[in-house]
Amino acid sequence: MSWLNGAKRSLLRRTRTPESPFRPDISGRRNQVAKTGTALKLAGVAGLMAFQVAMSGQAPTSLKDAYQGCFLVGAALNPAQFSGKDAREAALVKAQFNSISPENILKWEVVHPKPDTYNFALADQYVDFGLKNHMFIIGHTLVWHSQTPKWVFEDEQGNPLSRTSLLKRLHDHIQTVVGRYKGKVNAWDVVNEALNEDGTLRQSPWMKIIGEDYIEKAFEYVHEADPQAQLNYNDYSLENDAKRKGALKLVEALKAKGVPINGVGLQDHVHMDWPTLNEIDTTISEFGKLGMKVMITELDVDVLPQVTSSQTADVSLNVAADPKLNPYPNGLPDSVQQALAKRYGDLFATYAKHCGVVTRVTLWGVTDKNSWKNDWPVKGRTSYPLLFDRSGQPKPAFNAVIEAAPKKVSSISGLF
Ligand code: XIL
Repeated sequence: MSWLNGAKRSLLRRTRTPESPFRPDISGRRNQVAKTGTALKLAGVAGLMAFQVAMSGQAPTSLKDAYQGCFLVGAALNPAQFSGKDAREAALVKAQFNSISPENILKWEVVHPKPDTYNFALADQYVDFGLKNHMFIIGHTLVWHSQTPKWVFEDEQGNPLSRTSLLKRLHDHIQTVVGRYKGKVNAWDVVNEALNEDGTLRQSPWMKIIGEDYIEKAFEYVHEADPQAQLNYNDYSLENDAKRKGALKLVEALKAKGVPINGVGLQDHVHMDWPTLNEIDTTISEFGKLGMKVMITELDVDVLPQVTSSQTADVSLNVAADPKLNPYPNGLPDSVQQALAKRYGDLFATYAKHCGVVTRVTLWGVTDKNSWKNDWPVKGRTSYPLLFDRSGQPKPAFNAVIEAAPKKVSSISGLF
């Protein structure tokens, strides 16, 4: 049995302690590597060379295998994929990914559309899919200003709710949703997009009604409902200086108060030239220094013309369609395809510099066909943001990502 297989098993055997909730357990792999190392030392240099040749012949064919022992690789799913209705995409997900996120079905408007109505049918299917396939299951998202019905913030007469009543509503929602999937959903995006671009707190209804402690309350409520789950703050554009500083300040303040936060999600709805690799590198390091795990939670890369001067992933943005904004309706020119591949390779190489701090990289979708980027921020564009094309075939960017993976041979040699 090769150590690769051992590593694969150990990645899926996760450690669940409050201090390190659901970290991919790579200690088994380290032991396995150490044992392999001893055996190889005994076998001598000839044996080592033979082993390296053998290893280098095994190019991984899946994202999850390529990054085994470094971080999990995930995708956001829609109901057709996790229900198996789209059998081809369901098979692709099983073959390529070891973590899943729900693109929409755990958002408040879907799971809790009316005060006394919870719809768990889709969420149950999603969680079952993840459990059956031994995947690391993400819950997205509990507290957000978007895709949350208006009634959440109002009383029966339509007046703004009081702080106490909104906190109670939040507590009930979290108890019901998180409690239902306790021990099954491994990590929650507890609060989504609480910051403005200048790093100050967004004046969302949560903030206006409860005040800034809505954030710590949310983390505390989720921890109470599932003390083992990994709890994350998630946002976009954290690579930009002002917003990153605001997020670092927020995390520091939460930690100082003993709030149970484990990690920060960088959404990474990125462009070809933003953010720079350096900005990503710095961002990961700085959150890492605060003891945070970092997850890339919603990765996609936009090759289409940018329609705003700022880098935003604000879902409320809606720019009028214009053929000039949709330059590749019939396919990507080869030069753009290659540039996209290079960008993807560079991004994954940068993430992989931080194996262990970065614990997961999740793509926001599976194939270009159903990416949200076809309709945002401009409706009806033909977008190419992911690693698989419209018919589910790997793009050159897929190969670039596989090639950017840390070489297992060199990490073994590094032990000698
Ligand atoms: C998007 C979904 O992909 C779309 O289907 C939906 O219409 C709007 O929301 N940041 C987030 C995600 O945290 O939840 C958003 O998902 C994309 C931006």
